[in-house]
Amino acid sequence: MPPDQQTPSPADEIRAAIADPYAADSGALRLPKDRFPQRASDPRRIYNFVHDELLLDGVSRMNLATFCTTWVEPEVGTLMSDCLDKNIVDKDEYPQTAALEARCVSMLADLWRAPNIESACGTSTTGSSEAAMLAGLAAKFRWRRRGGRGGGAGGRPNIVSGPVQVCWEKFARYFDVELREVPMVGERFLLTPEEAVKHCDENTITVVATLGQTFTGMYEDVAAISAALDTLQAEKGVDVDLHIDAASGGFLAPFVQPDLVWDFRLPRVKSINASGHKMGLAPLGCGWVLWRDSEALPEELIFNVNYLGGSMPTFNLNFSRPGGQVVAQYYLFARLGRDGYRSVHAAAYETAQYLALEVGEMGPFDVMFGGDPSRGITAVSWRIVPGDESSFSLFDFADRLRSRGWLVPAYTLPPQREDLAVQRILVRHGFSLDMADLLLDDMRRTLSSLSAAPPAKPASGEAHGAFTHDATPAVRDEDTVIAPA
Ligand SMILES: Cc1ncc(COP(=O)(O)O)c(C=O)c1O
Repeated sequence: MPPDQQTPSPADEIRAAIADPYAADSGALRLPKDRFPQRASDPRRIYNFVHDELLLDGVSRMNLATFCTTWVEPEVGTLMSDCLDKNIVDKDEYPQTAALEARCVSMLADLWRAPNIESACGTSTTGSSEAAMLAGLAAKFRWRRRGGRGGGAGGRPNIVSGPVQVCWEKFARYFDVELREVPMVGERFLLTPEEAVKHCDENTITVVATLGQTFTGMYEDVAAISAALDTLQAEKGVDVDLHIDAASGGFLAPFVQPDLVWDFRLPRVKSINASGHKMGLAPLGCGWVLWRDSEALPEELIFNVNYLGGSMPTFNLNFSRPGGQVVAQYYLFARLGRDGYRSVHAAAYETAQYLALEVGEMGPFDVMFGGDPSRGITAVSWRIVPGDESSFSLFDFADRLRSRGWLVPAYTLPPQREDLAVQRILVRHGFSLDMADLLLDDMRRTLSSLSAAPPAKPASGEAHGAFTHDATPAVRDEDTVIAPA
């Protein structure tokens, strides 16, 4: 009898009858770690073991470092599982998913006040990073169209920005563009109109202004930067476009601060990116980039895909991508509307302001930004009060909070303010006042225990990893390094 038709041994029968993934038997009780396994295994056992390994991950809802969605309605989960098998690039096969994407683009053009919703164009992406690559490439092609060549002395294209998220450093390096990143100096943490203009020349492909800076959560003054660029054009004839990195702010300001002018109402704003998976409330893997009109998106970059008798312009770095995130985003737009988004985000701002107040009253902390919707995102950031002789650092504080499961990142600011350590909380959908109270209790307890038994030597950013995008520290979210456990 061939081996695979042998009658099961009594041991096999007993094992099958018990069918408990943790019961003792002679099978592999450990998951394979480095060698590709030879034999197939029972799905339930492997599922349980993989599931158990994931217990070692942090609790995402307590990860106050991430900007990304960590709570969704059950309907979002259902739609995601409905779409598990849909590739968004297959517009012929899944024309309705493509139609939902196109609707989202129109809705965003409306939300971001494009002068003409019909002529605005855009696409979903995997996140703001891909969106930034696409917007940067379009800016580079527009510059080339204007006569920029990119070769020769003084002819290299450049981007002018304040302290930006690493995606812009990546864009500059991958696509050979000089990044003129105006550093933080003293108490200046954002790009100012004066500094923006000072760094621009005829090879500036775009200024990037950030609506919700990663380090502090604050908005750059887009309208003032735009006005300064208008003056530059009037006085020197140098016409520089604006791109807005609204990764987080793009889904906050339109709902909570509708009169803040930062979007396509400013004619200089040629493109905007935002992360659907951040304040857009969609599950991970969803971003958006829009151009104010077809003029702003050079044709050479567009691949036309015909479907449903129409022509769908596609402009993405990826080919295959999951469709569920975009479907979920459409669901959220349709389900929440402007009022729903306003209500969700207003609650987060309220929690952020409450946290800012309480953190400020703890004593050693100086709140730098505290969830003011006219100035920034639903974040709270603080430093040790300047001049305070605390016997511990923010890195020690982050370490101790981690022992209760809270991930509250501490990091040093970018070059020229690396001396300054900052701690930040991102308040997201699902982080209630009730949870904020639990966190505050733990923060107060942690402060007293640090005061009672201070560390022999306060931990430094160096030891724990500064706010760097290059290091491989023990723990990091998409952009923030925090103290290892
Ligand atoms: C201002 C800004 N831009 C871009 C990004 C990158 O976004 P994503 O993680 O969606 O690629 C982030 C992420 O935190 C950000 O804060």
